[in-house]
Amino acid sequence: DSMPLLWGSATQLIITLFFSFFNPQVVNGIEIYSMKIDSKVTSRFARNVITSRAVNRGNVHKEVFFDVELPKTAFITNFSMTIDGVTYPGYIKEKEAAKQEYEKAVSKGQTAGLVKASGRKTEKFTVSVNIAAASKVTFELTYEELLKRQFGKYEMFIKVKPKQLVKDFEIDISIFEPQGITELEAEGTFITNDLQNVIKKTFSDKKGHISFKPTLDQQRTCANCSQSLLDGDFTVKYDVKRTTPDNLQIVNGYFVHFFAPTNLPQLPKNIIFVIDISGSMSGREIEQTREALLKILDDIRDDDFFNFILFGSDVHTWKEKLIKATPENLDEARKFVRGIDTEGMTNLYGGMMKGIEILNAAHEEKFVPKRSASIIIMLTDGQPNVGISNTEDIRTHVKKAIEGKYPLYNLGFGYGVDYGFLEKMALENKGLARRIYPDSDSALQLQGFYDEVSNPMLMDVELHYPENEISGLTKNSFKHFYDGSEIVVAGRFADINQNSLTVDVKGEGANDVLSFTTQQDAEQTAKAFQEQEYIFGDYIERLWAYLTIEQLLEKRTAATGEEKENLTAEVLDLSLKYKFVTPLTSMVVTKPEDYDNQAGIADKTTEGIDIFTVFIPPSQNSVDGDPHFIISVPQKEDAICFNINEKPGDVLSLINDPVTGITVNGELIGDKRANSDANSQNTYFGKLGIANKYLNLKVTVTSEKITIQNGNEKTAFTWLDSVTLQQEGLTLIINKEKNLVLSMGDGASFVIVLHQVWKKHPLHQDFLGLYTLKSHKLSEQTHGLLGQFFHPIDFTILEIHPGSDPKKPDATMIIKNKELTVTRGWQKDYRKDPKHGIDIPCWFVHNNGAGLVDGVHTDYLVSSLF
Ligand SMILES: *[C@@H]1O[C@H](CO)[C@@H](O)[C@H](O)[C@H]1NC(C)=O
Ligand SMILES: *[C@@H]1O[C@H](CO)[C@@H](O)[C@H](O)[C@H]1NC(C)=O
Ligand SMILES: *[C@@H]1O[C@H](CO)[C@@H](O)[C@H](O)[C@H]1NC(C)=O
Repeated sequence: DSMPLLWGSATQLIITLFFSFFNPQVVNGIEIYSMKIDSKVTSRFARNVITSRAVNRGNVHKEVFFDVELPKTAFITNFSMTIDGVTYPGYIKEKEAAKQEYEKAVSKGQTAGLVKASGRKTEKFTVSVNIAAASKVTFELTYEELLKRQFGKYEMFIKVKPKQLVKDFEIDISIFEPQGITELEAEGTFITNDLQNVIKKTFSDKKGHISFKPTLDQQRTCANCSQSLLDGDFTVKYDVKRTTPDNLQIVNGYFVHFFAPTNLPQLPKNIIFVIDISGSMSGREIEQTREALLKILDDIRDDDFFNFILFGSDVHTWKEKLIKATPENLDEARKFVRGIDTEGMTNLYGGMMKGIEILNAAHEEKFVPKRSASIIIMLTDGQPNVGISNTEDIRTHVKKAIEGKYPLYNLGFGYGVDYGFLEKMALENKGLARRIYPDSDSALQLQGFYDEVSNPMLMDVELHYPENEISGLTKNSFKHFYDGSEIVVAGRFADINQNSLTVDVKGEGANDVLSFTTQQDAEQTAKAFQEQEYIFGDYIERLWAYLTIEQLLEKRTAATGEEKENLTAEVLDLSLKYKFVTPLTSMVVTKPEDYDNQAGIADKTTEGIDIFTVFIPPSQNSVDGDPHFIISVPQKEDAICFNINEKPGDVLSLINDPVTGITVNGELIGDKRANSDANSQNTYFGKLGIANKYLNLKVTVTSEKITIQNGNEKTAFTWLDSVTLQQEGLTLIINKEKNLVLSMGDGASFVIVLHQVWKKHPLHQDFLGLYTLKSHKLSEQTHGLLGQFFHPIDFTILEIHPGSDPKKPDATMIIKNKELTVTRGWQKDYRKDPKHGIDIPCWFVHNNGAGLVDGVHTDYLVSSLF
């Protein structure tokens, strides 16, 4: 009887820091005794398997986290958990959440907080499982990606952060490249001089191998320290031999074609920089922009043409035309750049159109060389609000003005940009969008992007495959080919028995046309692959599927209506067939635990940044029903319970943590008709208020709606919504008409259960229950009717004897140095079965918890929900 868990994409383990004095490898009772990262690369296609093995050395149940960071460009393809020898596999499913609601929530969640949740290059995957004392768990995660060539090298990036010393730690990478490997580097940001020779690196001809296997002592930050210095990025870079400009491989009815000619002269380029100088760019951003532009001016070649367009409320152009990069002009440009200052609002439309107009004029007047590459680079940190501010309209005008003649590169600076808009606009104009992260190296990020597109070698590259022989061809025409990069095209033969292919390749170079024909057959490929043992056979097919999905997703970004639906169907179909976790699929694992309300969701958006998984351990304490409180006492495997009887309209303080700033208060409602006997008046929670004063966040939950107030911004959902929302300091999942899971700040989590009664019930009305999870994330100073029991509490039971109810014996409980008379009974836990609940045996403390709660229960009445 277990619940399915969902998640999306996924690398490293985070365990709360809490040192065991006996064994420094045991953190919070958990020892990760083995962690292996195994990568196999065949023709740029990488399959990585991360295996982590842990054992619970404590004497109680413990939560074990598997928390890894993956490259954003990777797709998870498998995940499994093995607990005490039993494997729980993951399987890929269509993302079932109502898509619109989901996208609405996700788009709202795309804030600073979200981006912070994952790194620049990575996204997080977290899973946790509760395992019994002395039990073992193995997590195994597989992901695949196509390594891209940049600046003349393929780069593979592995995030390493075990957070504790691991007895058996290993990174093992095998590379097979049929063209032959020319160089192989491996480095880690955490590698010290001592660790340098722990990296073993060899390569010869087609094979490369890297192994990194530090001993326990080599992992220590100092001789006797128990902290691990493995924390950072491990990067592998390599390149392959290029005796021909391209390389074609054919296996089992699929082909892949790599194209990266070398030693071609560069094309002169015509670059328009369209730069946002609106008020929001003030300070650091404009300074870094100036710095980057000055560096870029140093790199502009003397046969290039360029110009600057600045947009604030108005549009300013440096020159009315494109200007040749003579030394004098560059000097003048430097003066101009140093003088750039911020001004007013964001007339992005005006800036873009002016830039296109100048570039168009240069081409019409044949002012720039015929064989030259034109590029528009736009940088903004905001959203258009002057001129035309409707982003759809801007896109329409821009697309019409550019007409596919030049690629548009949009750089989004910081978190205030409408990145979706920038991405759509760039993609529909043969370019791409990039984020520039606000940091000390923002200027370097800008320059780095420029470097990628500053060396065009070919224009209008076309790779022609015989149309009638091929199906499922990936993109085969490219506006520009930049030095140091690589063009990859893959496809499928219409007849799977076909085993040879002839391709015509053509591109416009600086001096003349590059044109040649390539021929290849499966036998030649097989020969080139003779010595390799791994993922041979289906790697081209998977590479093809990866590339196809990636490109369809890009296309889908800017598509609408039926075209978008068709693209969605196509991506979904391929993702399911090849088992890739993409923005349209989730991975589901049936979790082996015997408790409910576990919601694990991780989703990959098109931007690929909001992967998050919320797995929820068993509830510790709760309040539900009329209201009854259940306080679990794990070391006794037992519980204490009590009721609070107050009047409708009263507000009770349930949790109050002065350190994290988190409070939870509940407002009571009564039955529809007041009971004449005030003492037997039933009350329930009709409204809960959860706040974090440090994050200026208030969440109000009633039986009808959920309102989130973030500063002055209000968002409301109803219980009919299925929502996953992640924003700074808050994760909220609404499981339609059932419950909502809310994590705040550092991870303190709550589940609120909705109890719906029959609408026409003469007496009862809908009400709410509150279950706390991860209460260890709250501070020692936490108080409130529930909160005070987050600290360990113990009791002793003496003298069990018959009570007034023959089925419920009484006893004496020694707790907090007091003797209380308690009654054995049951209270309902409604998480699993909101209608009937499950009976939880507990010791009932009479008279509103007198003697158990600090002070008297009326001390906990507060004046309002917040
Ligand atoms: C996923 O991993 C598990 C555990 O290694 C394995 O048994 C299973 O075959 C894998 N599934 C796929 C589709 O590769
Ligand atoms: C490490 O601990 C051992 C045993 O406590 C001690 O003998 C040794 O001197 C310590 N070494 C350092 C470098 O502190
Ligand atoms: C979508 O797919 C259907 C069925 O294959 C096809 O008839 C239709 O033309 C497609 N529409 C678009 C806009 O591609």
